[in-house]
Amino acid sequence: MSTEPLTPQGRRVLQVGPLKPSLVQTLRDDYAAYVLPDDPADREAFLSSHGAEITAVVTSGRTGADAALMSALPNLGAVVNFGVGYDTTDVDAAAARGVGVSNTPDVLTDCVADTAVGLMIDTLRQFSAADRYLRAGRWVSDGNYPLTRQVSNTRVGIIGLGRIGNAIALRLSAFGCTISYHNRNRVADSPYPYAASAVELARGVDVLIVAAAGGRGTRGLVSREVIDELGANGYLINIARGSVVDEVALVEALTNGRLAGAGLDVFVDEPNVPDALLQLDNVVLLPHVGSGTEETRAAMEQLTLRNLDSFLGSGRLVTPVPMPAAAST
Ligand code: 8YV
Repeated sequence: MSTEPLTPQGRRVLQVGPLKPSLVQTLRDDYAAYVLPDDPADREAFLSSHGAEITAVVTSGRTGADAALMSALPNLGAVVNFGVGYDTTDVDAAAARGVGVSNTPDVLTDCVADTAVGLMIDTLRQFSAADRYLRAGRWVSDGNYPLTRQVSNTRVGIIGLGRIGNAIALRLSAFGCTISYHNRNRVADSPYPYAASAVELARGVDVLIVAAAGGRGTRGLVSREVIDELGANGYLINIARGSVVDEVALVEALTNGRLAGAGLDVFVDEPNVPDALLQLDNVVLLPHVGSGTEETRAAMEQLTLRNLDSFLGSGRLVTPVPMPAAAST
């Protein structure tokens, strides 16, 4: 096989962090992409010999491209992100360097919204815990499983009424749930009532669902105060980013019975999950599988490659993320 890149001359692609195996293979076979070494010494050597050749980085929300990496790639033009969330890529540094960033919106909306609803049902109805109960022989030894909480007709607050938040609202409306939301800005034409703060939203709902983008703007938005407003009969569902929730406060509230339960697909330090959570029966814990279906991941892969091809061919990304205004020099 040829080792020559099929990309326009001098335009090399760099894979940063682990990616879906079929995408890794395509990057290797069709683009002759480099892979950024994990080992710091190897990485430094690689960047000093090849950094100037790289015009596009392909990465995921798991790894991203930070300012240090970008500064070692003086000819970088685009960071192509597999995933809708791009909080691990430093968009300020990218904007300052004129580097475009793309993500994979829309194609994963349905699956992530399905995951939110599934987590909510599992958390309130305790299906996973009931499954463990049955398997442990406790139906036979202890009798019927304790009663749980109804999902239909609950009051649900959504933090972040973007594409995914709206898809969750649509699904839960069919369950007869009353939807309200908090967002950085009120969404024009939304049929759902707006709460000016996360605390205010939490005060009036049974279930709080986090669907906001991660990053600096939302770090710790679901604070101790928000969790306390949700209260001992309230539930928290998070399919967004672990960083949006004060995880320490969450664990404390769950452990002390100040929150009824939580369904979590995301954590602050993935793949590490606080040991205290693993000991609790009132939580449902998923290993960040929100978009993890064959169909959706294939669509994300296609959109990632469309962005890469478009950038390499025309210098334009298909689904660029909004960039902050670059700092004036
Ligand atoms: C992906 C996600 O699993 O799209 C996102 O932001 O969190 C998930 O769909 C992740 O980005 C892949 O690393």
